[in-house]
Amino acid sequence: MIAPSILSADFARLADEARAVDGADWLHVDVMDGHFVPNLTLGLPVVKSLLDSTDIPVDCHLMIDDPDRWAIGYAEAGAHNVTVHVEAALEPVKLAANLRAAGAKAGLSVKPNTPLEPYLDLLRHYDTLLVMSVEPGFGGQSFIPEVLEKVRTARRLVDSGELRVLVEIDGGINAETIEQAAEAGVDMFVAGSAIYAADDPARAMEALRASAVRAAGKGGDKER
Ligand code: DX5
Ligand code: ZN
Repeated sequence: MIAPSILSADFARLADEARAVDGADWLHVDVMDGHFVPNLTLGLPVVKSLLDSTDIPVDCHLMIDDPDRWAIGYAEAGAHNVTVHVEAALEPVKLAANLRAAGAKAGLSVKPNTPLEPYLDLLRHYDTLLVMSVEPGFGGQSFIPEVLEKVRTARRLVDSGELRVLVEIDGGINAETIEQAAEAGVDMFVAGSAIYAADDPARAMEALRASAVRAAGKGGDKER
């Protein structure tokens, strides 16, 4: 599944940019606060407007401090999945329960240098694991292949029934990198610049999807 990231879209034309990727599985929206990451994007009012103007399920990636306080608003507004960072959440179990009670899926994200092992129990309370494959903050960075070890671990645990999360990857996903991520076992691929910098975003998205499907077939034979 593919989640185009509107971080690389034209922020003055967000409704049109959502329409340009009609057929996307999720629409990935990066909320940055200028504190947790050194960049500032958009917040709840813009997400509410976007929710009113698209039928694509909205995937909010909150790169913010104090998600315990702010994340619930995105779930209440109707976001399909709300992901918070494990490095920022103070009471992540309670936070996940609140997100689910508000009708959203709860997502937990780990930065590239954050290990997964200490949080495996915590993940039982979550629906989505978002593995960052670049340092969060900016689009257009290079993919960090070392994070695929975390994807493989999560994939194994999901396939053996020990965990029930959707495995999502975010950062540097393009025609070259998507295959290795798919072979490692990613379910949902976020792609910003690879989709929105293309002349035809919908076509770029479908090309990525096709590569992922092909590679997942190969990975399945080898590893699963
Ligand atoms: C980065 C964001 C990503 C960003 C990815 O902090 O979380 O969602 O849009 O952009 P690309 O696909 O260009 O690396
Ligand atoms: Zn993101």
